[in-house]
Amino acid sequence: MEWKKTYKEKILTADEAILKIKSGDKIVSGHAIAEPTVLLQAIVKNKEKFKNLELAHMVPMQKCDYVSENMKGRLRHNAIFVGAGTRDAVNDGRADYTPCFFSEVPKLFKEGYMEIDTALVHLSPPDKHGYCSFGASVDYTKPAAEHAKLVIAEINEYMPRTLGDSFIHVSKIDYLVDATRPLVELQPPKITDIEKKIGKYCASLVEDGSTLQLGIGAIPDAALQFLTDKKDLGIHSEMISDGVMNLVKAGVITNKKKSIHKDKTIVNFLMGTRELYDFVDDNPSIEMYPANYTNDPTVIMKNYKMVTINSCLQVDLMGQVVSEMIGDRQISGVGGQVDFVRGSVMAEGGKSIIAMPSTAARGKVSRIVANLTEGAAVTTSRNDVQYIITEYGIAELKGKTLKQRARLLIEIAHPDFRDSLVKEWEKRFFDKY
Ligand code: COA
Repeated sequence: MEWKKTYKEKILTADEAILKIKSGDKIVSGHAIAEPTVLLQAIVKNKEKFKNLELAHMVPMQKCDYVSENMKGRLRHNAIFVGAGTRDAVNDGRADYTPCFFSEVPKLFKEGYMEIDTALVHLSPPDKHGYCSFGASVDYTKPAAEHAKLVIAEINEYMPRTLGDSFIHVSKIDYLVDATRPLVELQPPKITDIEKKIGKYCASLVEDGSTLQLGIGAIPDAALQFLTDKKDLGIHSEMISDGVMNLVKAGVITNKKKSIHKDKTIVNFLMGTRELYDFVDDNPSIEMYPANYTNDPTVIMKNYKMVTINSCLQVDLMGQVVSEMIGDRQISGVGGQVDFVRGSVMAEGGKSIIAMPSTAARGKVSRIVANLTEGAAVTTSRNDVQYIITEYGIAELKGKTLKQRARLLIEIAHPDFRDSLVKEWEKRFFDKY
């Protein structure tokens, strides 16, 4: 119980705690639901006291005042993933973007590729032994706290106590701030008829006893809706939201047939409603691990019948998948997409699915294109790609020639764009021979 004495001594207000950070420091903060917004807002409020801070994190879900123009010279954001709140700043040059597989983000800190002076984290209150849980985000946040010189933690009664490799002892935290407030909630997305068709095709590839990874958003949620008649599915994922919880409650996800972590849902972060946060709280059937474990393709591949379902923005006729950029504009990040694509195709009986609507921008552009828009980076390479799905069907590209791939992709493109794609296909494959 010695920790209780030191706990009290470490408690500061947010304004006091952030003054322990020094100008020039490299800060890594938690993200998504576990963004330490009380501390971040305190830095913004006290910006005149700092020069040249750097703030790195992944998914921005909450107020991003730290990327506003008046933070110039005070703090610069380094995005390891881009979201709505930071997108303009990254593309306008006010913030930076660091490409990295999610599985390797912990290694950036561990091996010094990215310096880290201070970790700002958002935790559950300590248990009777003095351990706080990283709650909704273990991912890169726990490794960041392990490699930082200074750790400042927000303690929030509303943060669920998740289990697994998700704990830090108060003796390893330098300063604590009482930051109890309800967590941000992510409501399940509205699913359109197009997304339902895509979801149905995705679900058709999932066999009983498969282990799943699903990305976030309408397409993975639509796929979940069509899995209700499957048996004994398992979860080994980067993140989960309410859709997975609903299938656990319905008895569809049992984790019974998993070849590793039998009976357990394995994940590194989660975003959803309060019902999800209550569901994961102290729940021994859910284990959270850092991303260097959950997202390691050599771990993922140990799951028999591993099926991964992710989304993208553009695919060219060779099967090159762009998931993070529209032309030279950074929209998102690689996250765990490639980690899970690689892990699932290496798994025995594994399948990797990339699913997207056939068009974007209210039907004005085809997502299947002859050539990628100039400036875009490829996320999943043509060597890794397996299934591409749109509302028009399934194209299985693995083992297919370039000519066959192009033909299969045209068949699942929107009919309005098929003629122009066929012309491109004929030009490439017939004019030459
Ligand atoms: N050309 C022009 N605009 C495009 C486009 C294209 N090829 N593709 C998409 N857009 C537009 C859409 O119309 C939409 O615009 P709107 O916001 O005005 O409606 C916007 O870009 C976002 O596209 P959308 O497909 O709706 O995004 P999404 O929310 O479904 O997310 C990804 C899709 C690919 C960005 C997302 O899945 C992602 O970040 N993936 C990479 C990371 C990953 O896979 N992680 C896996 C584990 S979580």
